Amino acid sequence: MEEPATHTEAVERPESAVDSLGPVPRHVAVIMDGNGRWAQRRNLPRLKGHSAGISNIRPVIDGFAEHGVEYLTLYAFSTENWTRPQEEVEGLLEFLAAAIKDETQYFHEKGVRLVHLGRIDRLPPDIQASIQEAVDLTRHNRYVTVCIAFDYGGRAEILSAIRQIVRDGVDPSTIDEELVSGYLYTKDIPDPDLIIRTAGEMRLSNFLIWQSAYSEYYFTPKAWPEFDREEIHKSLLAFSQRQRRFGGINA
Ligand code: IPE
Ligand code: IPE
Ligand code: MG
Repeated sequence: MEEPATHTEAVERPESAVDSLGPVPRHVAVIMDGNGRWAQRRNLPRLKGHSAGISNIRPVIDGFAEHGVEYLTLYAFSTENWTRPQEEVEGLLEFLAAAIKDETQYFHEKGVRLVHLGRIDRLPPDIQASIQEAVDLTRHNRYVTVCIAFDYGGRAEILSAIRQIVRDGVDPSTIDEELVSGYLYTKDIPDPDLIIRTAGEMRLSNFLIWQSAYSEYYFTPKAWPEFDREEIHKSLLAFSQRQRRFGGINA
């Protein structure tokens, strides 16, 4: 295995989480939807939409990181996406695996820490290995943390936490929200402040269902391959105008 990043400290995030737009969300989570429809509108096969979508990941990570976002979570493949036709599942997995292989070095040099959220055991062994390598290589990077939700489902995540809590023999009277959070795939990752969904759908589709309790939402009709710098700007501007109360009242 390669040495931990030498540039861990060299790549610094912007000092302040307030840029010209106002307060910036610390954690942005994106439901990257609409690849298939984007392709169909162009009379292309759905898989062309997936490759266009995957090509859009790098510029979007760069864009959010430049605004000072510390954590970016990308919903790449859900536990329900296995029900798609075999050809689409295989194509998608292949593209995602290639992207992890091709992009890891670029992200490592930028100081990106890659984290995987979800089940790894159902993925083909070569994909498991490249995810593990990317995670190990970038473990100490501090510029921005990018979580890839890949074979991720929110209910499966909660079930796996419950099973582990029971296995650990935790005394029921000591189970609180903090303890449960610590058993989720996202332990050590703050809850998302802003959840973005592209392509006009307004649902979570089993994404971060525990963690989204107080998230703000931004929906756009644009398909994921069209989510560009202008959309990043619009989503951050919308967030900066929200009043978050967390059940309290504003002074
Ligand atoms: C999102 O695009 C990518 C994944 C779900 C993997 P879709 O494939 O869901 O695109 P639409 O929603 O069918 O247009
Ligand atoms: C959610 O999109 C999953 C990902 C973006 C990976 P879907 O396209 O699978 O969601 P539904 O089926 O429209 O709810
Ligand atoms: Mg979809």
